Amino acid sequence: MSDLDALKATILQEVADAADLDALERVRVSALGKKGRITAQMKQLGGMDPEARKAAGQQLNAIKDAIQEAIDARKAVLAEAEMQARLERETIDVSLPARPREIGHIHPISRTVEEMIAIFGEMNFEVAEGPHIEDDFHNFSALNIPPEHPARQEHDTFYLEARAHDGERKVLRTHTSPVQIRSMRTHAPPLRVIVPGRTFRSDDDATHSPMFHQIEGLVVDKHITFAHLKGTLIAFCRAFFGVDDLPVRFRPSYFPFTEPSAEVDIGCSKEGGQLKIGGGEDWLEILGCGMVHPKVLENCGIDPNEWQGYAFGMGIERVAMLKYGIPDLRTFFESDLRWLKHYGFLPVDIPAPVRGL
Ligand code: PHE
Repeated sequence: MSDLDALKATILQEVADAADLDALERVRVSALGKKGRITAQMKQLGGMDPEARKAAGQQLNAIKDAIQEAIDARKAVLAEAEMQARLERETIDVSLPARPREIGHIHPISRTVEEMIAIFGEMNFEVAEGPHIEDDFHNFSALNIPPEHPARQEHDTFYLEARAHDGERKVLRTHTSPVQIRSMRTHAPPLRVIVPGRTFRSDDDATHSPMFHQIEGLVVDKHITFAHLKGTLIAFCRAFFGVDDLPVRFRPSYFPFTEPSAEVDIGCSKEGGQLKIGGGEDWLEILGCGMVHPKVLENCGIDPNEWQGYAFGMGIERVAMLKYGIPDLRTFFESDLRWLKHYGFLPVDIPAPVRGL
């Protein structure tokens, strides 16, 4: 084998051995670069006599071409391998569940409201809202609570200062029921709304907060009966607490704006100081309800001979405490991050009735 053939074999072997694109480039430079081994051979051609130069030139060119070809082929293989490795490194499994990140927690009140909207939403209720600052008409008189009615005292109302030009005193709404009036006066029946929101009463002890939350429900349609009210609230309670056979009891009660009226209890057991929702011998009151009083319909321009309705109102803190085992009402509003981390919910965890709540 001539020296040139030996050189060619060495270089081709180096090309084959190059483990990556960088190594391959180093081989190329050392063979075909300005100071490369083949280039050095080329430079020697000038000193040869014409016959020998022609033969050696042809041989060198063939070797050069063969080396370049081998480099190109090896390059393609290495580039492909590098791409495969990179694809594997950068794989994303888009079917993986979202990874919970520490970007804060959803407050149990927000979560509970979301759950309620999800449940009533499936029953075709729409969400309505109203102002926190109300007038006497919407908060009381349109709801059949006249000025001297004892319910006014019971409500421990926060009054705003009298307005200069007419002396009117607005109130912080003491319940979400004024939004019943607002909904009926701005929308013609049939109506099907829920109203989650803040409410205010001048009451502050271990079991009362001056600001708390209620959710109101209102349905107005033709041929609405107490059976619709019962069916809806029983279905709601069972879905909300996730107990399919949860006992639900309707007890006669009184509200000025509903007739007949009832309070609703859910069954529970308190054995050994441990509260368990569902079954057992005990009852827990969770909401007030009834058939919309004909006078209330009339106050909203709705003919009670043609339309009937039912309404309900529920305290949100109370059911959230029962559902999530939160022992102290005051903690809801202390903004303690440790509490929120413990009782709060992850933002990615969105309530959906199909999964159970
Ligand atoms: N507004 C009543 C309360 O705050 C609850 C209620 C609403 C009762 C609707 C009956 C109908 O206690």
